[in-house]
Amino acid sequence: MHVFIHAGLFTLIEKGNPIRILEVGFGTGLNAWLTIRECLQAGTTIHYVTLEPFPIPMDISAHLNYGGDLVTDHALLTALHEAPWETEVFIQSPFSLLKTQQSLQAFHSEEKFDLIYYDAFGPPSQPEMWTAELLHKVASMMNDGGVFVTYCAKGQVRRDLAAAGLKVERLAGPPGKREMLRAIKS
Ligand SMILES: C[S@@+](CC[C@H](N)C(=O)[O-])C[C@H]1O[C@@H](n2cnc3c(N)ncnc32)[C@H](O)[C@@H]1O
Repeated sequence: MHVFIHAGLFTLIEKGNPIRILEVGFGTGLNAWLTIRECLQAGTTIHYVTLEPFPIPMDISAHLNYGGDLVTDHALLTALHEAPWETEVFIQSPFSLLKTQQSLQAFHSEEKFDLIYYDAFGPPSQPEMWTAELLHKVASMMNDGGVFVTYCAKGQVRRDLAAAGLKVERLAGPPGKREMLRAIKS
């Protein structure tokens, strides 16, 4: 909520429709769920493209339990997981979802994005996701005014995003993390 929704989605949702989001790492579908929840509340059209080369098996996703009141509509979370891969589907108007099993390294898009959820595993466990080259590729896929958010606040990542032409800010991080990064293409 702190990194992707508050620092990312909320900066764009008031500016109007539609918003094209690229998520790096669909994982358990939590970010997609948090986003569709806000989308339905605000009535904003969102096209959500998410990359996941290693999808979790359906028998595991069927047992996801976040606890508390984080996921209030399990049917909707299930719909995100059961949506077919490689095809854009309207999960519930005005939210469309395209899940693809491509890696970020292999991914190409004709259309650019307004918002990037950079939710790759961190540099210590997956350094190949944080190279200057890959961050530059992501920056090139953003629209003017586009927003990139990540929980990572590493100095090298900040410098590489700036070198890719983005205006980078350090924001207060989520609980347990001092800082996070938001970068805007101007
Ligand atoms: C921190 S998790 C994402 C969590 C997810 N956003 C959620 O809401 O549950 C990172 C994800 O990145 C995926 N991943 C690994 N290598 C990748 C690559 N080369 N391109 C895109 N995603 C990748 C992993 O399989 C993993 O699911």
